[in-house]
Amino acid sequence: MTKPLYVTRPDLPELETFLPYLQQIWQSGVLTNNGPFHQQLEQALQDYLGVDYISVFNNGTNALLVALQALELKGEVITTPFTFLATTSSLIWQGLTPVFVDIDPVSLNLDPNAIVAAITDKTCAIMPVHCYGNPCDTSAIRAVAQQHGLKVIYDAAHAFGVKHQGQSVLQQGDLAVLSFHATKVFNTIEGGAVICHSAQMKQKIDRLKNFGIVNEFKAEAAGINGKMNELQAAFGLAQLPGLAGALQRRAKVHQYYCDALARIPGLQCVPLLADGAPNYAYFPILVTDEFGMSCKALYEALKAKSIFARRYFYPLTPVLLDMDIDESCYPVAADAAERVLCLPMSGSLTQAEQDLVINAIIEVCGKD
Ligand SMILES: Cc1ncc(COP(=O)(O)O)c(C=O)c1O
Repeated sequence: MTKPLYVTRPDLPELETFLPYLQQIWQSGVLTNNGPFHQQLEQALQDYLGVDYISVFNNGTNALLVALQALELKGEVITTPFTFLATTSSLIWQGLTPVFVDIDPVSLNLDPNAIVAAITDKTCAIMPVHCYGNPCDTSAIRAVAQQHGLKVIYDAAHAFGVKHQGQSVLQQGDLAVLSFHATKVFNTIEGGAVICHSAQMKQKIDRLKNFGIVNEFKAEAAGINGKMNELQAAFGLAQLPGLAGALQRRAKVHQYYCDALARIPGLQCVPLLADGAPNYAYFPILVTDEFGMSCKALYEALKAKSIFARRYFYPLTPVLLDMDIDESCYPVAADAAERVLCLPMSGSLTQAEQDLVINAIIEVCGKD
């Protein structure tokens, strides 16, 4: 039996880099509540990412919840059905109504024209996702938002470090939200962050992630516990020095797949669209009719060979949540969901492991 290959393998910092942080935690006894490593990580990420202000969280979902709460939204939020559950569920948790519109067939991100068509007098915001780290059409989305007085919250869970049109994509929108989950390009085991553009907004977000506490005798609002603890922050700090190398390795993995899969008719690699720094977070392919086998069949055949590719994002979020919304509202997203498969991708994936994946695909489809 071959060793299973999963869609991703978490990047860990060097143990020798992590241990001194642990010693300091053991010495200080400070485990959480805006401790020194929490503060250091915020400063380090602000510099690394080139963003105005950042508030780190214990996971990306809590970061999304607080971002929505901080903007004091009410009503409908236009969003994509082609995403992970947390994008939609955070809206529902905040009492907002998700309105799903279609995506662009190339970027697989929200189609700005579809956004315009869905605006009603109840619309308060747009929540696009930079899917797989590919930047949304941020200029068009900004123009629509300005024209209609809407807030924009980017779910940037996949977009750590992505640069486009001369700056970090995380600078776009009123707020942008990152995930530092173990499966992400940069991880703090579990974790996340909200990026904002003023000291006042950062203070509000910092309070909301700490139960809303202003001082011992006053709370700003009914906040939650979204605080990142010191072990998570230390793990993140220990990981930063190795990040450039990990991204270079991911770039090589990406190119090797592209070259090999170009020889197999019917498989389309989703293009990298960031003109600055892409982050190679995922390796999604679309299985077209020419391949002669469905995406589902390919997924199952690979699984039988212990290769656990993932059908991100199938089924679409409204289907997963049984929301009774007609898929004809978003035909491009429905089609992409049927065809997309994310192949194993990580900075530590070896060429031999990639050959296993590529040869397995060639074998199951009978094309050589
Ligand atoms: C698009 C998207 N949004 C939100 C999240 C939630 O982030 P977290 O797992 O850190 O809570 C994820 C997940 O991993 C995601 O892929």
